[in-house]
Amino acid sequence: MNKTFRIAPSILSANFSKLGQEINDVISSGADIVHFDVMDNHYVPNLTIGPLVCEAIRPITDAIIDVHLMVKPVDRIIPDFAKAGANIITFHPEGSDHIDRSLSLVRDSGCKSGLVFNPATPLEYLDHVMDKIDMVLLMSVNPGFGGQKFIPETLNKLRMARKKIDDYTEKTGREIWLEVDGGVNADNIAEIAKAGADTFVAGSAIFKAANDDDPNRYDTILKSLRSSLSKA
Ligand code: DX5
Ligand code: ZN
Repeated sequence: MNKTFRIAPSILSANFSKLGQEINDVISSGADIVHFDVMDNHYVPNLTIGPLVCEAIRPITDAIIDVHLMVKPVDRIIPDFAKAGANIITFHPEGSDHIDRSLSLVRDSGCKSGLVFNPATPLEYLDHVMDKIDMVLLMSVNPGFGGQKFIPETLNKLRMARKKIDDYTEKTGREIWLEVDGGVNADNIAEIAKAGADTFVAGSAIFKAANDDDPNRYDTILKSLRSSLSKA
């Protein structure tokens, strides 16, 4: 089967003192999407980056910026990220009191929209809002930190999500991306792809693999992720 696989480095694990360079180098090594993790020390116990950083990196890359909101509430901050140049905005159902409204807000702000599922969050949240969703993101770790271990039950959940999406696409002709986030590396990415994911976030596996200033420092890890994917 000829499938499109997208690799989305999570810049959470990048060197923030030279973020622009990190993004350029990882994209020129063959990554597809910039995964941008927003944490608020409220919905998750960590604090990261906001719209100002998104705005700062927007002019340095043409790559899709995929903003993963781990914040509560979400509505106030959605238009700010859209203005800052985000292409995709995803949020957790637990972060919104009115999920349908928040999804519409993302679309009305000009971005692609998506829902993010924690390991124990049921996929039923999709059932009545598929028309408003462009991406489904399954967390394969509990959100809040990079560098955690992939939770194997995610593979079963991916198969369930794949089925829901395929049924929907067959009915409507509209494509929805299925992204996985947490603990993805060259050893498990093929199995994850086989379970149905088409878009792969990887933070520590990519950025911790490099330790010098060689502009091609990410070539090896990107090649090894792609070669594992080619076996899927
Ligand atoms: C976790 C974040 C992830 C994280 C992935 O809450 O959403 O995007 O940075 O990092 P790794 O690939 O190291 O698990
Ligand atoms: Zn993420």
